[in-house]
Amino acid sequence: MGKLLLTVAVAIASFIAAESLVCNKCSFSLLGFCMNAANETCKDVNSTCFTSVSTFPSLSSFKGFNTQGCAFDSTGCGKINTFSFLGVPYDNNYTCCSTDRCNPVVSGAPASRMALTAAVGASVLAVVFSM
Ligand SMILES: *[C@@H]1O[C@H](CO)[C@@H](O)[C@H](O)[C@H]1NC(C)=O
Ligand SMILES: *[C@@H]1O[C@H](CO)[C@@H](O)[C@H](O)[C@H]1NC(C)=O
Ligand SMILES: *[C@@H]1O[C@H](CO)[C@@H](O)[C@H](O)[C@H]1NC(C)=O
Repeated sequence: MGKLLLTVAVAIASFIAAESLVCNKCSFSLLGFCMNAANETCKDVNSTCFTSVSTFPSLSSFKGFNTQGCAFDSTGCGKINTFSFLGVPYDNNYTCCSTDRCNPVVSGAPASRMALTAAVGASVLAVVFSM
């Protein structure tokens, strides 16, 4: 009897552990607009939802790009790092949370502003690539 209860308890515990976190996923977004929004079910027990926002301080009109989804664990959460993309420095703000779809969906940019920032972004990339 005691063994049966233990088995049931273990089964319930593993069911709870197996209950997965769902995160908003965006594997690629540019200019504040997510190209492929989706729901992602996290696979690992310690998973958190992350939102990674990259901005270019030297290009204030360029909104940068974001990624979202499940992170393996909370390593690096709540950190701001400075990296370099093709020689242009950018800041990456990496935040996490651990409730279903708690990472805010990257919102679409108004069309006119988006066209402008796309043009600015494209010309910046053109300049960078020609260096
Ligand atoms: C994610 O799932 C929620 C709840 O089922 C749904 O409302 C939402 O539209 C889904 N989002 C996407 C991008 O599929
Ligand atoms: C989850 O986190 C706990 C506590 O930090 C750790 O002991 C365990 O190994 C982690 N599990 C996985 C699958 O990373
Ligand atoms: C980083 O992102 C978090 C969550 O959106 C925000 O509260 C925080 O102000 C951001 N930090 C910087 C330096 O932009």
